[in-house]
Amino acid sequence: MLTSEQKRFFETFGFLIIKDFFSQNEINTISKEFNYRSKVASNIEPFDGTKRQTIDMSDDDSPFFASLLDNEQLLSIGKTIHNRILPWSTNIDRHVDNTFWHHDAGGYEWYGVKFAFYLDSLTSQNGALRVIPGSHKQPFHDELAHIKNLNYSWIRKNYTAASKSSFIAPIPSYACESNPGDLVIFDYRIFHASLGGSKDRHMCTVNFINYPKTPKQLAITIHEAKNYFKDTHNTAAPWNPKKVVSENWLANTNQNPNRQWGIDQWRKFSKMKVSDTGYKIETVEGKLKVIPI
Ligand SMILES: [Fe+2]
Repeated sequence: MLTSEQKRFFETFGFLIIKDFFSQNEINTISKEFNYRSKVASNIEPFDGTKRQTIDMSDDDSPFFASLLDNEQLLSIGKTIHNRILPWSTNIDRHVDNTFWHHDAGGYEWYGVKFAFYLDSLTSQNGALRVIPGSHKQPFHDELAHIKNLNYSWIRKNYTAASKSSFIAPIPSYACESNPGDLVIFDYRIFHASLGGSKDRHMCTVNFINYPKTPKQLAITIHEAKNYFKDTHNTAAPWNPKKVVSENWLANTNQNPNRQWGIDQWRKFSKMKVSDTGYKIETVEGKLKVIPI
């Protein structure tokens, strides 16, 4: 649960830091599961500090992470922000060096809330998440794309140049400095980057999607719900399941009611037709656009 001040802060700036969210015991468990799943991935493709690895954490060999998608406290925070939220995924990332400016929304109508936490103490100089406060809001969000350093269609063709410090540093931003146990919460649509991180920066995320509130949001949710239950190729990262979450998570053998509600919602949306909303979905420059039919 957030205080009204925290809620207002998030609504205004698109991010929020909660200090000491996890206990020392939980940090130890997080660290143990992080190391175990990293080892599973490294046994398939050794991590050598040159290429980022993203590792799914929804399966039975990382039960604490998997349970965070059902976690009452995270759900309560998400509900305070978006009224209702849908579980999406939980991952760890072994980041390498800087991260170029980007936002995580698949399209402006496809967004949610991301809970991030780190296993190292991070400052502005060694890889803390940098955000442009308020950039989750329109028209500011779209206006920022006019700046080359923030323009996704340019960046996706020029990842190496966009990842250079000289390209990231000039953009004014706020660094979300954190220690292990702290929670950094942000709206997918906020522009973010990181600077000065090591060749093995450990990031953990739990990701939720906004429950659709408009026909445009419904169109994109139906589109993505169909993907939620589809097998995809995981050849680039064979340590991950073929779906967004593991089959074990979807089986919900412990019958967690929060999880079951989320799965039922995705099933419901997956059976609906995008065209019934009056919109269609197209991919433009790597992002989903909702277009009237
Ligand atoms: Fe991101």
